[in-house]
Amino acid sequence: DPYIDEPKRSEDIIPATKKPFAGTLRLDYLPLNFITPVQWWYVRNHLPVPDLDANNHQVILEVGGTQRIFTMDEIQQMPKACVMVTLMCSGNRGYEMLETTGTKTKIWGPGAVSNAIWTGVKLCDLLEAVGITAENHGNYKHVQFVGTDCEITGVPYSVSIPIWKAVDKKGDVLLAYQMNGEPLTRDHGYPIRMVVPGHTGARSCKWLTKIILSDKEADGNSQMYDFKSFGPSVRSTTADYEKAPSIQAVPVHSVICRPKARDSVQVVEGRIDVKGFAYAGGGNKIIRVDISTDQGKTWQPAQLDFQDNKSDYPHNWSWTLWSCKLPIDKNQHDVEIWCKAIDTSSNTQPEGFEYIYNFKGVTANAYHKIKFKLIP
Ligand code: MTE
Repeated sequence: DPYIDEPKRSEDIIPATKKPFAGTLRLDYLPLNFITPVQWWYVRNHLPVPDLDANNHQVILEVGGTQRIFTMDEIQQMPKACVMVTLMCSGNRGYEMLETTGTKTKIWGPGAVSNAIWTGVKLCDLLEAVGITAENHGNYKHVQFVGTDCEITGVPYSVSIPIWKAVDKKGDVLLAYQMNGEPLTRDHGYPIRMVVPGHTGARSCKWLTKIILSDKEADGNSQMYDFKSFGPSVRSTTADYEKAPSIQAVPVHSVICRPKARDSVQVVEGRIDVKGFAYAGGGNKIIRVDISTDQGKTWQPAQLDFQDNKSDYPHNWSWTLWSCKLPIDKNQHDVEIWCKAIDTSSNTQPEGFEYIYNFKGVTANAYHKIKFKLIP
């Protein structure tokens, strides 16, 4: 069993799949911390977790046939950067999207998202050391990242990002070796991983072993098949994977975490407490979250409680935690509430899944709608 040596995980992480492991924190715990404690971070592995030793781990940087090898010591002696970055899996809420069409194949509910302070070396600094800059990157169009985790066939996890993001000094792409001030844990990429702010979680390659400058995207499954953009009428049988663009920056999202769907909720002084998160990719920041108790006829703004106030569009990489004391008629029995977020580019979420449906179950960012009961 290749999964015999998996790390221990918190009981609060609810598995979606066990081998490979994917799991999210209980949804009602998610808004308890602006910076998610490491043991409460969502985990998304595609393969068994490698068991690596920082003392002999190396990262190879390959530029046009030339390889430069960095030990962990060398990387840790380079100038440090500390950046607050939320990661969210593109498959977040994929289950809900696919459920609307009767398919129940995707793993994720609404909690595949977490926020941390990452410490490491900026990729643009590493690239500058070998002469690759925003002004001068030759014919290279993509930067590929290769993980140490491998399929049985020996094919490693590999993904890529466009070169402009890699060389952008304010793009904040990191080779991270610490999460919330501590060395990475095995599940989150020990001893070193990529963190690509504003882009879908898949590009933040864990257990990093190689960086390759190329004119092509990486050829791993997560780049070529899993996280691609398709229209609502495309099916797996008609999908043209070569032509479909891979997902990089993620769209604006919001989720109600408290109460949870189907909870029984107490009304206190005519109000109920509602809490959740909102997040936008591409460096956007959340400017508003709207809540409705009457299926969109009227809306009231939530309070934005926690944001990364040191950064703004287009360099804001963290989620927003919001809350609302929602007036509610206590004589109702069944209640439905909706939320939607608006970001600094005035992007908002679509009302339903119908017209954004894709058979991959990715970028599922329709309004979050939940039903629950009031305690009489
Ligand atoms: N990197 C490697 N090497 N192997 C993986 O399976 N999963 C990706 C990404 N990096 C993955 C990986 C996906 S899909 C996501 S959403 C994030 O890691 C999740 O990071 P986390 O497990 O630290 O939350």
